[in-house]
Amino acid sequence: MRYNKKKLFIEGVSVQNIASKFGTPTYCYSYSKLKENIINFKKNFKSFSPLICFSVKSNTNVNLIREIKKFGLGADVVSKGELMMALKAGINPSKIVFSGVGKTSEEINFAIEKRILLINAESESEIQVIEKIARRKNKIVQIGIRLNPNTDAKTLKQISTGKSENKFGVNSKEFFKLVNFCKNSKNIDLQCLSVHIGSQILDHKPYEKMLKAVSNIISKTKHKFKFVDLGGGMGIAYNDKIKQLNYKRYNLAINNFLKKFNTKIIFEPGRSIIGNTGSLISKIIYIKDSGAKKFIILDAAMNDLMRPALYGAVHKILPVRKSGNISKNIYEFVGPICESTDKFVTLKKYQKLREKDFLAICDVGAYGMSLSSNYNLRPKAVELLINGRRIKKIKNRQKHTDLI
Ligand code: LLP
Repeated sequence: MRYNKKKLFIEGVSVQNIASKFGTPTYCYSYSKLKENIINFKKNFKSFSPLICFSVKSNTNVNLIREIKKFGLGADVVSKGELMMALKAGINPSKIVFSGVGKTSEEINFAIEKRILLINAESESEIQVIEKIARRKNKIVQIGIRLNPNTDAKTLKQISTGKSENKFGVNSKEFFKLVNFCKNSKNIDLQCLSVHIGSQILDHKPYEKMLKAVSNIISKTKHKFKFVDLGGGMGIAYNDKIKQLNYKRYNLAINNFLKKFNTKIIFEPGRSIIGNTGSLISKIIYIKDSGAKKFIILDAAMNDLMRPALYGAVHKILPVRKSGNISKNIYEFVGPICESTDKFVTLKKYQKLREKDFLAICDVGAYGMSLSSNYNLRPKAVELLINGRRIKKIKNRQKHTDLI
């Protein structure tokens, strides 16, 4: 996004025009940014050409997954729904990995039928279910076991997954036990060790620790893992002060790891691929003066973008037309939903705003639309893909009649 003569543009299209034509709230994605992110991600790890499985939970729009697939990416899914969506987008099952602590028999059955690359199991009970279904079908199923490396990802507590108190994966003791179980099974082919320690990680050191833990385990098991799936988690800069993840250091650590083990690396990035491609365009419905601050009441709400209410996440908000006149008031940007947590951010020294002005909430491509809901019976926003001067509608705005 950039300003041209004080007007905000996404690629070659003015945001004001998008808002007038498609209404608000509206999710917009930039194709160029998506392409750039994928190319950069590949470049960062080109020395060992990993299998990159886009984490579908971060954005489930079939048209976006289709575009991502064209760059050769696979998919990381966590439910039958996501698996169906990845297949619908044309992703080859041999590039799909299935994670999650609570896969049902139906989901496992479906994944086996579709011959996906790996079911990354997260408990003994799950492996037993996989084995039972595989035996019944007289099939050999490729699986991974997710290790909980007890590593602090140094990110928000709510999105940390690699500590022993988190529900994800199994500890090292359990891991050894499960490797032995798999070795004794005729229907299970243990091919992968997987880990994922959390999301929005900006420090490379937790990744180094994670690799150390993985390295120790593999040395001790003496099992030949065809794949090591390092998950995703690479953070993005939601504001200008955030220091980007040092990909060079992470890449170096993986290269050192690969000197010891001959294995194929899998990644499951979501946010780093799609996060900064998306913005949510919204209109100011009312401005209410409460004395201490002014409430800027938007037509986008926590049902459209849940991250601020759920994690206290802060997203930049840009005016669609820059005026240069700074307000003396404190502005609190809120939505119309009947919850006090339905608020995006409180800002001082913002430009003077008026009712009916448009605003763009930035970096909402990941966990924006995919976490949205119909709370307060609000229809979901339309989604658009911008490529140069072209606008493609990639999902219709829900209508009230879809809901009622
Ligand atoms: N692999 C696994 C097993 C995961 O659980 C996740 C994310 C990913 C990959 C992708 O992580 P990423 O590269 O996007 O960081 N709703 C939260 C984020 C939750 C992440 C859940 N797992 C948010 O809005 O920040």
